[in-house]
Amino acid sequence: MAAPHQDVGFRHGPVEGVGVKVLVTGHQGYIGSVLCPLLCTHGHTVVGLDTGFFEGCDFLEAPTDVRMLRRDLRDMAAADLDGIDGVVHLAALSNDPIG
Ligand SMILES: NC(=O)c1ccc[n+]([C@@H]2O[C@H](COP(=O)([O-])OP(=O)(O)OC[C@H]3O[C@@H](n4cnc5c(N)ncnc54)[C@H](O)[C@@H]3O)[C@@H](O)[C@H]2O)c1
Repeated sequence: MAAPHQDVGFRHGPVEGVGVKVLVTGHQGYIGSVLCPLLCTHGHTVVGLDTGFFEGCDFLEAPTDVRMLRRDLRDMAAADLDGIDGVVHLAALSNDPIG
């Protein structure tokens, strides 16, 4: 039996008709900058939300096919979730910016 992630194409490329709209908070970070292109490659629509705290310190080019909300997560309104099927919540101050 196939693993759940195989059903949505994570191993075998996009599967027609399974694309969902995903809000990725902290999408400019270490994990988000890898995850967003992966989601897009597999047919999903990504909306990123990030304050841009570490903008300019990127290892990768910012993804161009991701709509971006430059916003603090704590200022989100319910309307920001209109049309969103799922949220991947990565926004956090998880790394010591001076250490
Ligand atoms: N990187 C790892 O190895 C690792 C391991 C385990 C868990 N995690 C967790 O995964 C998540 C993401 O980790 P990462 O390494 O990508 O972090 P990161 O610091 O590289 O990225 C976090 C992003 O969140 C944004 N952000 C911070 N506060 C925000 C706010 N209030 N509103 C909007 N955006 C905000 C920052 O600007 C940044 O771009 C964190 O919760 C972290 O604790 C990471």
